[in-house]
Amino acid sequence: VRPLVSLVGAGPGAADLMTLRAVERLRAAEVVFHDRLVDPAALDFAPPQAERVLVGKAPGVREWSQPRINRLLVAAARQGRRVVRLKCGDPGVFGRAGEEIAALAEAGFAVEIVPGVTAASAAAAEIGRPLTDRAARRSLLLVSAHPAEGAPPLDWAALGAADATLAVYMGVARAGEVAAALMAGGADPATPVAVVERAGRADARRTAATLGDLAAVIAAQAVRNPAILLIDPPRRAAGAAAAPRRAAAAG
Ligand SMILES: C[S@@+](CC[C@H](N)C(=O)[O-])C[C@H]1O[C@@H](n2cnc3c(N)ncnc32)[C@H](O)[C@@H]1O
Repeated sequence: VRPLVSLVGAGPGAADLMTLRAVERLRAAEVVFHDRLVDPAALDFAPPQAERVLVGKAPGVREWSQPRINRLLVAAARQGRRVVRLKCGDPGVFGRAGEEIAALAEAGFAVEIVPGVTAASAAAAEIGRPLTDRAARRSLLLVSAHPAEGAPPLDWAALGAADATLAVYMGVARAGEVAAALMAGGADPATPVAVVERAGRADARRTAATLGDLAAVIAAQAVRNPAILLIDPPRRAAGAAAAPRRAAAAG
């Protein structure tokens, strides 16, 4: 028997980048709790009588706290309704899915996860290159620049030395700090960075930068969320220590 509650990935904000399974779950939904970044057209897949509840957390807006969202999900499941929790991208990537699954599990409800196209994949497609390749991009790190309150700062020097492409989510406001921390750890300021806004949507925009000019380019181009930074595997700057120093971390 399929669980009553499905955590469904809506993809990067374009309904045609949703999976067939996501559409199927929406068609069967009695209530849909959705994020702000979800394409409104995605909600049209739910039956007209299904309740739609926007529980998105706009930056700086606090009224939909995570505990409140958790309580709503549990209450709807207790009513025996088919619940879809529709999240942008993949629900398991920086989506606080773990907290919702734990709250539902504590109340005795199993949860099904329906994966979605995460922003890093959509952004790579937008710039027409693979996220990884066998020669130059052999690993990929998905990094959030927006740490949970009280979490220890990220070790950007180690991340920069990992020989991996860095896909930085929620990084626009902190791009300058992130770049500075990577460079303080020895990354070459000439390291290319692709800034992709609204990946996957008709109004997507790509902006090329380097670590050295990232903050200035973001300000000059008025880059806005949702946007993701794809940082090439940082080269070591000339004269940088072989072993990274622990750099001042953003956040
Ligand atoms: C809370 S995280 C959620 C990530 C989402 N679960 C995913 O898998 O893509 C929100 C961040 O994802 C990134 N993001 C989401 N949709 C995007 C899009 N269409 N284009 C670029 N970045 C996007 C942005 O960095 C945004 O600040």
